[in-house]
Amino acid sequence: MKVTLKIWRQKNTSDKGGFKTYQLDHASPDMSFLEMLDVLNTDLIKKGEEPVHFDHDCREGICGMCSLYINGRPHGPLQTTTCQLHMRSFKDGETITIEPWRAKSFPVIKDLVVDRSAFDRIQQAGGYVSVNTGGVPDANEIPIPKKIADEAFDAATCIGCGACVAACKNASAMLFVSAKVSQFALLPQGKPERKERVERMVAQMDAEGFGSCTNTKACEAECPKGISVTNIARMNREYYSSMASSYEWQVGGGE
Ligand code: SF4
Ligand code: FES
Repeated sequence: MKVTLKIWRQKNTSDKGGFKTYQLDHASPDMSFLEMLDVLNTDLIKKGEEPVHFDHDCREGICGMCSLYINGRPHGPLQTTTCQLHMRSFKDGETITIEPWRAKSFPVIKDLVVDRSAFDRIQQAGGYVSVNTGGVPDANEIPIPKKIADEAFDAATCIGCGACVAACKNASAMLFVSAKVSQFALLPQGKPERKERVERMVAQMDAEGFGSCTNTKACEAECPKGISVTNIARMNREYYSSMASSYEWQVGGGE
């Protein structure tokens, strides 16, 4: 199949950048989107041109690295990761526009590669359990209601890809942060640091410059792992209950 590719090229963070158009006339419908870019890059290298820089790692939908904005949607036309998207999702002769994630907190490093270390810093602020949980327990040693276990598992499937931020008109990171808060808040191992965790992670999210949530649910619609916005409601409850019980909050009269 033949495709026309309009790709964002940008030398570095301070470069203004712009679109460049490429023709590819030997893509297979069975190629993944990243394999199609590999073919383009092989052609460019043969011609002595600079290949297009893009992020990837697992190519199995689990690492969250393949952050491409395709035809105006994070990860393209399907609710999956770019590495799991195939060229058969596009028409022969189609023009495909490829951009990096667009968010102030995800600055472009080069071409389609953005710096998502803001997510790492949010995780480092509280997305962990520091209590000693001992060795691996038998499966049913700690009884947890199935509904709670399922919700915690669903939240834990977030791969930190950043599509939720890219999809949101406010560049809000609430879906990502709420998934990380929820997976611990729901389980007994996460209870000891429950209050500090949500306060620290929300503070770091704000410090990184992500926008606010205005309930458009664009994040949920584009999340490749189907993370639910009910996690945002849970994070808000966790946050307010933590703040309301803190000494400073009570002394300050709730201000
Ligand atoms: S919530 Fe979904 S879209 Fe956001 S980082 Fe996690 S997996 Fe990606
Ligand atoms: S390359 Fe790992 S999720 Fe796409």
